[in-house]
Amino acid sequence: MDKSLRKPVIAGNWKMNNTPEQTAALISEMKPLVAGADCEVVLCVPYIDIYAALSAAEGSNIKIGAENCHWAEKGAFTGEVSAQMLKAAGVPYVIIGHSERRQYFGETDETVRDRVRAALNAGLKVILCVGEILGERELGITAEVVRKQTKVALSGVTENELSNIIIAYEPVWAIGTGLTATPEQANEVCKIIRDLIAELYSKESADRFVIQYGGSMNDSNAADLLKQYDVDGGLIGGASLKADKFAAIVKAAC
Ligand code: PGA
Repeated sequence: MDKSLRKPVIAGNWKMNNTPEQTAALISEMKPLVAGADCEVVLCVPYIDIYAALSAAEGSNIKIGAENCHWAEKGAFTGEVSAQMLKAAGVPYVIIGHSERRQYFGETDETVRDRVRAALNAGLKVILCVGEILGERELGITAEVVRKQTKVALSGVTENELSNIIIAYEPVWAIGTGLTATPEQANEVCKIIRDLIAELYSKESADRFVIQYGGSMNDSNAADLLKQYDVDGGLIGGASLKADKFAAIVKAAC
């Protein structure tokens, strides 16, 4: 049991915010603030901002990610972007299965699984999101929901491929609401996920597996959340749109 086996990953999820011009300005502001951080720093941005983000982040420790990808390599899927296209554009990371995709765009555990497969095949690193809605927490079925989402998404993923996946535990009731899970609640579910990785693969892989917390993480609650044994980083929405706040979270992780 050694938390230091895992390098924390702090990832911003910009959602549908920022034009290419705003992207370049925000990343230029962030670069010096996160330079030299002893953790992985990622910013996931809208497709239209990817080139601006890659160019603004060049030569820095900031890695760029997309917020989704399609499961097919190419074809008649108007409005979609494939994992191969992202890879070819030079994007290393992609978020898959975010609760807003599940809630508003018909994403299911099965389409999440197919997108994870496509992203891994293309050589991308996946930030896989799982998490319960408020009603599920109140019913006491959080563990069941999170275990099922994780199990389906990982079906077909080999143990070797696990090094290209991280999981973000994001309780849906905490996203964008200002309500944060307590450090204990966050750790409890991150541990459930780690135990599942041990069950599906091995204890060694589980000990190395990075699990983030996401849901109203900010500069004042990050340190307490990130101190938890099973919390290895954060997926940050709102607070990743402000350079100083995001940098403060990065500092709390390193
Ligand atoms: P939030 O979003 O930090 O604004 O709650 C987190 C997320 O949706 O990944």
